Amino acid sequence: MSSLLNADAKAEQDRLKRAAAEAAVTLVEDGMVVGLGTGSTAAFALEALAARIAKGLRVSGVPTSEATAALARRLGVPLTDFAAHRRLDLAIDGADEVERGTLNLIKGLGGALLYEKIVAAASRRFVVIADATKLVDRLGERAPLPVEIVPFGLEPTLDRLADAGLAPLLRRIAGSGEPFRTDGGHAIADCRTGPIANPAALDRQLRAMVGVVDSGLFIGMAAEAFVGTAQGVQCLT
Ligand code: 5RP
Repeated sequence: MSSLLNADAKAEQDRLKRAAAEAAVTLVEDGMVVGLGTGSTAAFALEALAARIAKGLRVSGVPTSEATAALARRLGVPLTDFAAHRRLDLAIDGADEVERGTLNLIKGLGGALLYEKIVAAASRRFVVIADATKLVDRLGERAPLPVEIVPFGLEPTLDRLADAGLAPLLRRIAGSGEPFRTDGGHAIADCRTGPIANPAALDRQLRAMVGVVDSGLFIGMAAEAFVGTAQGVQCLT
């Protein structure tokens, strides 16, 4: 019974993710170079983009992960890279938490935070897509904060994060138990911060730490968020 309920809840969440993704993909115009996000919501956006390409839209995309690149190839979405395009017109990506009011984000539960941040930073417009469960009053309320770290000196870096009160947990691959590696070859420490009073200050503190590559805090980057709710898709700015 409860697994049926869970399946229904998941189907509803997917419906809202898809609706948000489809709304964001209407922003894509002919000739654009688009940043392609990572995760299940971003996958719905790729499907919507592929459907428009099949009808004649001409675009190319810069993927934020190997997984997204593989899905884009399967769906027939042409890919390009930063060597060909230093600036992107638009990036569309999911998030783990979206803070109401600021649109600051936590990203990286899918393990692609660094490439996602590079793509978002290179885009003229960065649009977030999410279902309503991702909306929070304070970042860190529910999701852990992923922090990408260099494998060399992993232990002292984890100690540094622990000393800062961030309760880091090294991400491991389910099943094998091996440390997870990002596409860039880094490790991830999932930090249990609790509600974050000053996300910008924490992001600065983390990025100044030896051994830290980047944090999953995306501060002031999102121009708007398309959020799928039971009442329809809301565009937050
Ligand atoms: C990957 C991400 C994803 O965008 C984030 O985890 C959201 O994923 P989903 O849409 O599957 O909930 O940041 O690094």
